[in-house]
Amino acid sequence: MPFDLRSLPVDRRTEAALGARGLEYRLVDPADRAGLDAWSQADNRGFHHARPRESDLEHERRIFAERRVHGVYDPTAAEPELPVATISSWPTGLSVPGGRSVDAWAVSSVTVAPTHRRKGIARALMEAELRSAVDAGAALAMLTATEATIYGRFGFSPAARSATVVVDRRRAAWAGPDAPGRVHLVDPRSLRDAAPQIARRAVARTPGEIDRWAGLLDRVLGVTDPESEGARRTRAIRYDDEHGEPQGFATYRIVREPDRPGVLEFDFLAAATDDAERALWRTLIEVDFITEVRGHLRSVDEPLPWLLEDPRAVRFEELVDHLWVRVLDPVAALGARRFGVGGSLTLEVDDPLGHAQGTFELEVSGSGRAEVRRVEQADAARAAASRRSRQAGGLKLGVRELGSILLGDVRATTLARAGRITETGSGALELADRMFAASRAPQLSVWF
Ligand SMILES: CC(C)(COP(=O)(O)OP(=O)(O)OC[C@H]1O[C@@H](n2cnc3c(N)ncnc32)[C@H](O)[C@@H]1OP(=O)(O)O)[C@@H](O)C(=O)NCCC(=O)NCCS
Repeated sequence: MPFDLRSLPVDRRTEAALGARGLEYRLVDPADRAGLDAWSQADNRGFHHARPRESDLEHERRIFAERRVHGVYDPTAAEPELPVATISSWPTGLSVPGGRSVDAWAVSSVTVAPTHRRKGIARALMEAELRSAVDAGAALAMLTATEATIYGRFGFSPAARSATVVVDRRRAAWAGPDAPGRVHLVDPRSLRDAAPQIARRAVARTPGEIDRWAGLLDRVLGVTDPESEGARRTRAIRYDDEHGEPQGFATYRIVREPDRPGVLEFDFLAAATDDAERALWRTLIEVDFITEVRGHLRSVDEPLPWLLEDPRAVRFEELVDHLWVRVLDPVAALGARRFGVGGSLTLEVDDPLGHAQGTFELEVSGSGRAEVRRVEQADAARAAASRRSRQAGGLKLGVRELGSILLGDVRATTLARAGRITETGSGALELADRMFAASRAPQLSVWF
């Protein structure tokens, strides 16, 4: 989505709605250092984080320079320069099945001060974001949620789950193949050159992952604040293939008391190849003098149990809905991915906010490529007749259900069993299951 972030105006409807309540809805200029720092203070406060240090603010200035940052200001508050509500957003890619990416609109930093809660401020901000995303040409909006009860009302729904993979170190005897390359222990900061490219390739092969933003890897690698406790604890391994090319890396820390075995924890394992993924996992679970390995935000179909002599050494804990998606343009969202099998389906989508409302014909060829067409109201009767003659079935579903089946995270039949999708022609549900299936379970391994 080639697009100048600054070219989008402030959403006038939200500006007027909040203005009528005496509140100012403003875009924060990234060049206004004091304004951006005040916004960061409010964002950190909203998420119950500690007050940011200068090094944190420095990092945030870099991150938010690439985003659209809005604040809501109350001129009557004791500290009127601090926003009473924050939100940020940016256009970015979301990986979809088939190794491709869809133009998406990431939303983050949604906070409203406790003094201003439940007055409709978050609603006004979210509705503005959806309108801006449509104006920018995004096929969908996406976010990660602190609470699962907030965003459904705006059409968001879980689209990729993640789990903590816990390995009992003493039972974890490797039974998988040896990787042809080699794992090296390295200084995390030495990965600065190789990491972005590896991360890009790892993201591209995993539906549900979003493009990594500038600054994220610096934080992961401890570059942002090298003397902080977290950075000093961070260790790193890199996998080089048989030609000496880096293909994956992981950063981890060992949490332990003196003279006691520790627990190895990691948040970041990026592998561009299956060899790299296996070799990194193997190195992590074979570290001595630890009792347990905990990998956070891992895939729910991590192949690890299949690589061990005792698959029960692995437990999947904290299974969470992690990526939430809100389809805005079904034609673009569906058209971006590859499908499991060919077939025709008519999707009647209900969207209370209107953006994705309509009837859509999805025609998938034998190679999995999709052609998607919005059926105009005037054509509906003709389309129904054509559907009958082709014996093509269809589904009636809400925009949330469309978001949840989009990447293959949940089957249409499961949502039908929950009473959330209805079949309009016999066999359509079963066909939808096969069409929407993804060969790799969608996963999102970062918060944003
Ligand atoms: C979540 C948060 C932003 C909501 O802000 P708010 O201005 O109070 O929300 P609104 O008044 O606009 O509420 C909009 C709707 O969401 C509902 N809602 C808001 N917060 C909710 C919550 N935490 N759980 C369930 N429903 C919630 C409201 O009841 C309202 O429902 P309705 O309009 O359908 O009747 C605010 O509580 C907050 O800052 N929380 C802490 C930080 C956080 O968790 N942010 C979310 C980041 S993903």
